[in-house]
Amino acid sequence: MNTVTGASQPVLILAIETSCDETSVAVVKDGREVLSNVISSQIETHRAFGGVVPEVASRKHVEVITIIIEEALAKAGVEPKQLTAVAVTQGPGLVGALLVGVVAAKSLALAWGKPLIGTHHIAGHIYANRLVKELQYPCMTLVVSGGHTELVDMPREGEFRIIGRTRDDAVGEAYDKVARALGFPYPGGPHVDRLAHEAPEAVPLPRVWLEPDSYDFSFSGLKSAVLNVVNQSKMKGLTPDVAGIARGFQESVVEVLVEKAVRAVRATGARQLLLSGGVAANKGLREALAARCEAERIELIIPPPVYCTDNAAMIGAAAYVKWLHDGGTPLDMVADPGLSLEQWSVADGENGQE
Ligand code: KG4
Ligand code: ZN
Repeated sequence: MNTVTGASQPVLILAIETSCDETSVAVVKDGREVLSNVISSQIETHRAFGGVVPEVASRKHVEVITIIIEEALAKAGVEPKQLTAVAVTQGPGLVGALLVGVVAAKSLALAWGKPLIGTHHIAGHIYANRLVKELQYPCMTLVVSGGHTELVDMPREGEFRIIGRTRDDAVGEAYDKVARALGFPYPGGPHVDRLAHEAPEAVPLPRVWLEPDSYDFSFSGLKSAVLNVVNQSKMKGLTPDVAGIARGFQESVVEVLVEKAVRAVRATGARQLLLSGGVAANKGLREALAARCEAERIELIIPPPVYCTDNAAMIGAAAYVKWLHDGGTPLDMVADPGLSLEQWSVADGENGQE
């Protein structure tokens, strides 16, 4: 029995994610139970180029998507006829990469006679938290990924209001650029995180707060400050204190993120704080946020690292919410690299599929 819909049949969603450099397919039951979550990463291919090459990403998705779909169904022990719907990341992301997932999902929906659910990638990152714990509204989400840095207020299920965003680099992008300056390969976030924990001392770096009441972020000045420190050391013929710089950078980023997130929780009366996106895998951020939330008695949810970086289980979790409220998406929907999170918010109606 599905406790939300009251339906006797579980809602089984096959979800596909191909927005960037991970091809992933999952089967998720009732938006919370992951029956399978297969992830094929292209990181090794892109590493040689120092970042994701869009054309290469699309080609790699095409090569593996069919195998990954079959594997996800087999691991879940689910037959296509048992599925309720097929969900796919509609955007944002790289257009060619999105297109592979969207075409695959449409084909399956048509062939199997199942509804299609076009899903927002960031809504997926946010609803990864529901794979851990039931959400209570209103809640606040700190989204920190390779392409996004946002504070998202959620007054009710499936409704998203962005109250703060980065004015320049996304936090993951800043991590990757800093890592590259320090001599580490793509993706650099995990290297900076590890080094930051090894450094006995932090190289002092600025904090960028912007206007006192702003929930926006800015990381490009901090990134430039890192590049200055590295270049100055090299000009003096010295080896840069790579670990100290990593620690200084991470402390600056984490302090600003934690402070603004906690302030946003207080200002909106949020009942929970959720952490979402690839940078949510960052140990320093997880620890600092956990300590601060404990001190402030704020309930914090952080997904396990596998649900923080790109995966299809999170798409299945968000698609479930969309399905409950709005039902399926027309089959003529198109991949949308600029899809708006706020506009993807659910309408008021119930799907009535129960
Ligand atoms: O959410 P995600 O998998 O892809 C996007 O939707 O962008 O995020 C990828 C980003 C990369 O910039 C990567 O360096 C960063 O997440 N990342 C980390 C860590 N693990 C992944 N950044 C800092 N610390 C980490 N441990
Ligand atoms: Zn992502």
